[in-house]
Formats: sequence, C-alpha cells, structure tokens
Amino acid sequence: MRKKIVAGNWKMNLNYEEGQKLTSEIVNMYKDENIKDVTVVLNPPFVHLFPVKKLIGNTPNLFLGSQNCSEKAAGAYTGETSASMLKSFGAEYVILGHSERREYFKESNELLTAKVRQALDYGLTPIFCCGEPLEIREAGTHEAYVKNQLTESLFGLSAEDFAKIVIAYEPIWAIGTGKTASSDQAQEMHKALREHLASKFGQEAADHTSILYGGSCNPGNAKDLFSKADVDGGLIGGASLKSRDFMDIIKSF
Ligand code: G3H
Repeated sequence: MRKKIVAGNWKMNLNYEEGQKLTSEIVNMYKDENIKDVTVVLNPPFVHLFPVKKLIGNTPNLFLGSQNCSEKAAGAYTGETSASMLKSFGAEYVILGHSERREYFKESNELLTAKVRQALDYGLTPIFCCGEPLEIREAGTHEAYVKNQLTESLFGLSAEDFAKIVIAYEPIWAIGTGKTASSDQAQEMHKALREHLASKFGQEAADHTSILYGGSCNPGNAKDLFSKADVDGGLIGGASLKSRDFMDIIKSF
C-alpha cells in the first residue's frame, strides 16, 4: 500500500570519478540483482546531479534526488539552486530539513515551509526530515518535539500537496554515530508521527505516507528496522557510499 523507499544521501562526499564509479556500480547491481518494489533515490551533491542522472538513465524505480533546494524560485541569489533547475536536470526528489541543514545553516521550520512549496511547485517530491537531539530524547519530550517540526512546516499544505510528501525520521543522536535507534524506538516514533499526520490530513492520507528511518542504518540492522509496521524504508548516509552495503540495505525488505 505504501511505497518502500531507500534514499542514499551522499552528503558532501566523493569527487567526480568516485561519484561515477559508485553510481555505475549501483546501477549495474540494481539491474543484475533484479530489485523490485523498492524505490531507490540517489542524492548526490549538486555538481554530481547531471552526470549521475546520465548513468541512471531510465532505469525503472531508480531516481535522482538533491540534498537541498532554494526557497526562492529564481533571481539574484548567488550560490543557490532552484527547484525548477533541479527538475530540469532530472531530479525527482529533494531532501529538505535535514538536521545538518537545520543546525549548520540555521534552517528554520518557517524557511522549510518555503522550500517545500518550491519543491512541490516544480514537481519534486520532498523527503522531509525531522528528528530530535539527544537532550530532547533524554528529557522524554521527543515525540512532541518532532511532531511540532511537522506541524510548523507541513500542516499548512493542502491535502493534495501533502499526499506528495515523504517523511524521514532521523534522531540526531543516531546520525553518523554508529548508534542506531532500536527498531522499537523507530517504530514507536513512526507510529506516533503517522497518528499526528492522520489528525490533520486524515487516516487514509497518513496510511499512504512513506516514513523512512535514518541514522546509522546499515546492512546489519536494516532488516530489523524495515520489518516494523510503520518503517517504510531508510534515508542512508555513510552506508550509501559503499555500493555493496547500499544494495544490501535495499534488499533488506
Ligand atoms: O541522511 C542521512 C542520515 O543523516 C543518516 O546518516 O547513515 O551516516 O548515520 P548516517
């Protein structure tokens, strides 16, 4: 009923040759290993987008995504990249609200609302990230904290627009630390987020929304995480830079 999705976030890694090598390996393995029913998204840095798209070609269910887009449509915004440019270069998805963007680039819930709007206006699917820092988890207020991120950035959307959103729950304390959330912790939060989405957009819409888990997901824990009822896939950082690991995660459903 819901799309299973595995998205690789390369973050700021890999030069041109490395990016091409990794993509070629993934495309070849993806075809050879006959992956079915899983939507796979590669999210390289901006400069890699076009050459990566050339290698992906029209491989079914294998898509290109960006790690960010501007909140502006076009104009004198030096250094920025618009959603319409991304779409024209073959991107179908865009990661928005990653905790690294929120923390290091001070992206607020309000700014993210504008970015989501741009993405939707130009036909990109937002992979909207949310997640709590360690101190919030330890204080026991993590559900309220993450729900609020969704409320502030997404609850102004129409039902039609909301239907295009993918959510990624990434507890910040699990990102790049090797300390993954347990599958029960992930399930508990995903279920709570789905209920929260249902309270605004209705049960049917919430039941159709893919909610991905991110944070030290690897071939060793993906099966357990993906076995949970409300975990519909993963947003993968470090392990998406190794073709074999990434493929093994894709094959963990
Ligand atoms: O976007 C990906 C997440 O930040 C997870 O990164 O798998 O390296 O922990 P990680």
